[in-house]
Amino acid sequence: MNKIFILCAVIIAVIYAAPDSSLDLADPVSTLAETVTTSAQLALPTTERREYETSDEQGTVDDRTKLVATLFKDYDKKINPDDVKLMFGVSLIDFHILEDKDEMESSVWLRYSWQDPRLKWNADEYGGATLIRLESDMVWKPDIALFNSADPVNMMNCWNANILIYSTGKILWVPPCKMLSWCHLTLHREPYGEQVCGLKFGSWTFDGDKLDLDFYKGNKTMDVSDLINTSGFEILSNKAEQTTKFYPCCKEPYRDLMFNITIKRIPGEELIKKW
Ligand SMILES: *[C@@H]1O[C@H](CO)[C@@H](O)[C@H](O)[C@H]1NC(C)=O
Ligand SMILES: *[C@@H]1O[C@H](CO)[C@@H](O)[C@H](O)[C@H]1NC(C)=O
Ligand SMILES: *[C@@H]1O[C@H](CO)[C@@H](O)[C@H](O)[C@H]1NC(C)=O
Repeated sequence: MNKIFILCAVIIAVIYAAPDSSLDLADPVSTLAETVTTSAQLALPTTERREYETSDEQGTVDDRTKLVATLFKDYDKKINPDDVKLMFGVSLIDFHILEDKDEMESSVWLRYSWQDPRLKWNADEYGGATLIRLESDMVWKPDIALFNSADPVNMMNCWNANILIYSTGKILWVPPCKMLSWCHLTLHREPYGEQVCGLKFGSWTFDGDKLDLDFYKGNKTMDVSDLINTSGFEILSNKAEQTTKFYPCCKEPYRDLMFNITIKRIPGEELIKKW
């Protein structure tokens, strides 16, 4: 009994008498705090913060309740608005080249902006509310697909972010998504050669007369201002183009937007295995 008691006392004394070990404990904590700050910064891409921090008003909870009840009284989200003009953009957050499979895995923030005239209101009647944030499943949304998907069943794996509806009827939706796309790689022949990888988007069912497609804010590039540089490749150029096709069957135009990046491996980086 006594021996065990003494042994315990010694162990406790050693723990308390070792200031170094408590310093060791403090270090991982401060490292952790830094890590948290860094990832929090990365999780808030600057463009989106600017986008959302408009000087909007949302009124009181009663204003919003009345607004949503009125707006959605006769709204049928299964029905598309007439003549939709979708402004569409891609913000590249992360990408990874799977060279054995000729694929690119990417994390992106998509930007959808269009008008739904059924969702307009006079802000004065709702306590000045000019913007409302709602679950995106409440409204009709364009059926944009990734045409060069390498995983069609799981084509655009997106978090169902809230949608922003402005009193003008403008809708803004920015879902973060993960996707796998085909690219034609020649890395096996020229490991340091230039490669082009693209993401090609368009409506799956609507032609260009019913759903027109153009670049968000007119910007014919992928937004790379929030790119996390971990891929071992550098981006040499970054451009997008709109294609309009006519098929023999039909008089309607079919539109797609293709966002390309031209990349090149950074020497030495291929030895570092990521993910
Ligand atoms: C388009 O996007 C690029 C890359 O994010 C940015 O540098 C450029 O200023 C943007 N141009 C316009 C007209 O918004
Ligand atoms: C990634 O980092 C490398 C090395 O620091 C740099 O040369 C390259 O331009 C960076 N690429 C991007 C897309 O920022
Ligand atoms: C994007 O890449 C595809 C396939 O390599 C090519 O056909 C298309 O012309 C490219 N477009 C732009 C704008 O670079």
